[in-house]
Amino acid sequence: MVRGLDLARAKAVAELGPGTGTITRAVLEALRPGTAFFAVELNARLAGLFRRNFPEVRLFEGDAANLRAYCDQLDVRQLDAVVSALPWTTIPRVVRGKIVDAAARSLKPGGIMTWVTYRSPKMKSVRMFNDELRCAGFRVGEATVVREALVRAHVFHCVLER
Ligand SMILES: C[S@@+](CC[C@H](N)C(=O)[O-])C[C@H]1O[C@@H](n2cnc3c(N)ncnc32)[C@H](O)[C@@H]1O
Repeated sequence: MVRGLDLARAKAVAELGPGTGTITRAVLEALRPGTAFFAVELNARLAGLFRRNFPEVRLFEGDAANLRAYCDQLDVRQLDAVVSALPWTTIPRVVRGKIVDAAARSLKPGGIMTWVTYRSPKMKSVRMFNDELRCAGFRVGEATVVREALVRAHVFHCVLER
């Protein structure tokens, strides 16, 4: 998820839907000290577990669609990267559109949003979401396949072009 994001040079990074923080650990390892980093988790129980696992990370318990407002609260003008493992393909189109829009308004031009799916990139739901990202101004790269035991995940890096 974080490979290729150049997090070591990032000034500000956000993670959407960290759950208990599996990916957060990799993000923290890649960031240099002083980088602004925060996470946004909707589920109260998971947010509680996340806080216990990562008391040092600023967590907003709320909707990823509020990403721009959370940036403003922290005086973060632009993010270099948004790491997201939201269940994108199952979120209704209108709802996820608001999150994509918030990400586009929060990232710097050239900033990257990464997303992951366990579905094949050929599936309609995946193609549809990538088309929505393109409409919002992202260039969507080829999926990187990540295999862990029996699980096969596809990671997309989407570069904001405008
Ligand atoms: C598939 S889990 C991924 C958890 C973790 N990142 C991981 O990879 O193990 C999706 C996470 O997104 C959170 N989530 C779903 N919709 C969200 C939203 N609109 N805003 C913030 N978090 C959300 C869920 O509560 C859950 O923690």
